[in-house]
Amino acid sequence: MSSQNASSAPTRRHLTGIATLSLPDIQTLLDLSEEEIAVSRSRDKKKSALKGRTQINLFFEASTRTQSSFELAGKRLGADVMNMSVANSSVKKGETLIDTAMTLNAMRPDILVVRHHAAGAVALLAQKVDCSVVNAGDGAHEHPTQALLDALTIRRRMGRVAGLRVAICGDVLHSRVARSNILLLNALGAEVRVIGPSTLLPSGIADMGVTVFRKMEEGLKDADVVMMLRLQRERMEGAFVPSVREYFRQYGLDGDKLSHARAGALVMHPGPMNRGVEIASGIADGPQSVIEEQVEMGVAVRMAVMEWLAGGDGESR
Ligand code: NCD
Repeated sequence: MSSQNASSAPTRRHLTGIATLSLPDIQTLLDLSEEEIAVSRSRDKKKSALKGRTQINLFFEASTRTQSSFELAGKRLGADVMNMSVANSSVKKGETLIDTAMTLNAMRPDILVVRHHAAGAVALLAQKVDCSVVNAGDGAHEHPTQALLDALTIRRRMGRVAGLRVAICGDVLHSRVARSNILLLNALGAEVRVIGPSTLLPSGIADMGVTVFRKMEEGLKDADVVMMLRLQRERMEGAFVPSVREYFRQYGLDGDKLSHARAGALVMHPGPMNRGVEIASGIADGPQSVIEEQVEMGVAVRMAVMEWLAGGDGESR
């Protein structure tokens, strides 16, 4: 957490990563999310926090759940929402990104939700446009709303995040979800472990304040939360794992491995899941799984983030 990013006005305009949030910002967002859950659970799922505002979802990478979650969140806040899915152009990616953003910027949106395959692309874009920018995932860098929704899910289920042992398992190397979660869980006082094969653990990961394990049985010992990551094969060039079968044998979450965690430990997955690759179907659908709850919390957190960016939590921007 960088100190210059405490709730001062300029940084309030964007959410590019957990790294740019202060602890009070995080608490504000989680508390506001609780109110948004109530809105989503009511019959009349409407607020007017973003009434008259325009939200554009600009996705340079395919996405189903994140894009639909942001779309619903904006609509429940009363915004006019437009979705733009931009096919991956293999040439002049930098130019395409900025050109597209500037064109949209000229249409005077209030919020731009951006997903891009390059780390840092969203922060770059935030410097160029006049509206608030939300990072919906940039390469292997950050995915802040995912980490916030995970923390919200944990806090609601366990009553707290501080002091809990959370094991993040699998393809940490390619995972923006893992990076954002490590930052957020550490900020909230959890004990964070990462578990995976050496080929899927970034060098220097221990410097992020985590304990590293290469065996699931050891890393999962007494864990309160087991967070599985998708094996991101589309980001792999070459062989990072011997075979999918062998990967599942060593790192796939099944009943045997889960038995090393605390009784009643939460099982989480950001989706989309590869059943039988990183998680057994029976565990994904089992009593300890909170995977569907994560999806519900996703809408609430995105509502909270956009309301907060628009200055709807009582403070001016
Ligand atoms: C995650 C992502 O895109 O980083 N998924 C998501 O936001 N729905 C995780 C993943 O793709 O594995």
